[in-house]
Amino acid sequence: MDARVQDVIDAVTAEGERHDADEPDRLKRWRVLEPEAGRLVWFLVHLVKARDIVEIGTAHGVSTLWLAEAARTTGGQVRSVDLDLDAQAVALRHLTTAGLADQVRFVVGDGGALLAGVPDDSVDLLFLDAERTEYPGWWPHPVRVLRPGGVLIADNARSHPSEIAPLRRLIEQDSRLVTTTLDTGKGALVATRI
Ligand SMILES: C[S@@+](CC[C@H](N)C(=O)[O-])C[C@H]1O[C@@H](n2cnc3c(N)ncnc32)[C@H](O)[C@@H]1O
Repeated sequence: MDARVQDVIDAVTAEGERHDADEPDRLKRWRVLEPEAGRLVWFLVHLVKARDIVEIGTAHGVSTLWLAEAARTTGGQVRSVDLDLDAQAVALRHLTTAGLADQVRFVVGDGGALLAGVPDDSVDLLFLDAERTEYPGWWPHPVRVLRPGGVLIADNARSHPSEIAPLRRLIEQDSRLVTTTLDTGKGALVATRI
């Protein structure tokens, strides 16, 4: 991990945690990815040598920083989508400070709509960190776009198990996928296309 990028991740993570401590409205919180979970997605990008990476839920870009740092090593690119243009503008600043802006293409819009336009079998790693209750409505695109050997990760599997359960059921019922849940951070539902 590049030390300059790690410094930016640490600073933005700490800023997000301070911000959220004083913000009663959940939707206005930054809800940044925990360092352990960031390390997990960073590791998985390396493990599967992911080059085509899709992230749904940029917010202020902490997870994007983890993904983009790994993508620089694999020669990959992150497409990161969010409905919130203002948050994404802040994320772009953070990626620029980290020297990683070239690794990311930001898209403003709905993650499900973006996935619907992605070709079959083309994505190496898909990271879901948006509104969990929306994920089932995006089916079958999360599995359709994954290439064999590709990885899907959904955050908050332990912190919000009932919200993640419908996605877990879809994954478990799909013979193209195998899955497990890791305790890392707030819990990561991880699946790979076989
Ligand atoms: C938990 S935050 C993401 C945190 C970010 N991954 C990080 O580590 O800093 C969730 C984000 O998902 C976005 N979001 C919610 N529903 C969405 C959708 N349907 N499509 C794209 N983004 C969405 C929200 O605007 C919010 O910025």
